Amino acid sequence: MSTGTYVLAGQASELDRLQLQSRVWEPAGRRLLGQIGDGAGARALDIGCGAMGWLRLLSEWVGPNGSVIGTDIDEQMLSAADTFVASEGLSNVALIEDDLFATDLDPGSFDLVHARFQLAPLGRAAEQLATYLRLVRPGGTVVVEDVDPGSWHFLPPAPAIEQRLIPLLAQALETASDDPWVARRLPALFGDADIEPSVRVEVEALEPGHPYQRLPLQFAAALDGLLRTLVEADDLDELLDDAEAELADPGRWGLSFTLVQAWGQRPA
Ligand SMILES: C[S@@+](CC[C@H](N)C(=O)[O-])C[C@H]1O[C@@H](n2cnc3c(N)ncnc32)[C@H](O)[C@@H]1O
Repeated sequence: MSTGTYVLAGQASELDRLQLQSRVWEPAGRRLLGQIGDGAGARALDIGCGAMGWLRLLSEWVGPNGSVIGTDIDEQMLSAADTFVASEGLSNVALIEDDLFATDLDPGSFDLVHARFQLAPLGRAAEQLATYLRLVRPGGTVVVEDVDPGSWHFLPPAPAIEQRLIPLLAQALETASDDPWVARRLPALFGDADIEPSVRVEVEALEPGHPYQRLPLQFAAALDGLLRTLVEADDLDELLDDAEAELADPGRWGLSFTLVQAWGQRPA
C-alpha cells in the first residue's frame, strides 16, 4: 500500500481511542521528559498531535514562560485537541493545521520536537525524522515514540486475542504500512541521521476492566474492511465474539504493547 497516508483517518472512534491512549501513556512521557531535563521556558512542538498527544505534558514541561505548538493535518483531530486544550486551560498551547511533509513551520525554531505513533502509520521514517530535525534548533532535542507489539499479553492468557486477533491485526498493519515495526530500528534510524540515540521502553499493566485492554478490539473495528479481505467474515465475527468473551473475564489483567521512546540532540 502507498505510504504517507494515515490508515485510521476520519473515524470518530479514533478520536476517543487516541485520547484514552494519550492518557494511558502520559506518565511514561512525563518520566522521559524528566530524564531529558528542565524544560522551563522552552518552545516545544508536538507533530501530528491528534486529539491530545503530548499537549498537556509539554504544557506542564515548558511552564508559564514557555510555549507549545501542536500540529496535525486533520481538522477533526485539531478540533478535538482544541476542545481538550480549552477544557484544561492550557494557555501556553496553540494548534496549527500543518502537513509534516510540506510544513510551513520555521526551521530550527523549537527546543524540542516530539512525534508519537507517526513513523509506523505514515511509513516514511527517514524523511519524517529529517523533518523533525530541521524544525528543532541546533542542540535541541527530537523525541520519537512508536510501538513494539512484543509485550502485548493478558494474565491469565487470552488465546483468542493473543494467538488469533493480534497476529491478524499485525498482518493487516503490515499490509497498510511499509514499516509497522519501525520502533525496533529507532536507534539505527537515529544513527543514520547522525544523532546519538538514547532509548527507553515502557509497558503498562492494565487492571481488570481497564478500557485500554480493549485496544485490539478497537483496532479491529477501525481496520474492519481490511481484516475482511484477510479472513472469511464468519471467522472474523466468531473471533471478535471470542475476544469479547475473554475481555469480559472480571479477573483478567492486561499488559500493553511496548512503547519505545527514542531521543537525541541535533548536533550544534
Ligand atoms: C496514530 S495518530 C497519533 C496521534 C498523537 N501523536 C498521539 O500519540 O496520540 C497519527 C496522527 O498523525 C496525523 N497525521 C497524519 N498525516 C499527517 C501529516 N502529513 N502531517 C501531520 N499530521 C499527520 C493524523 O491525523 C493523526 O492525528
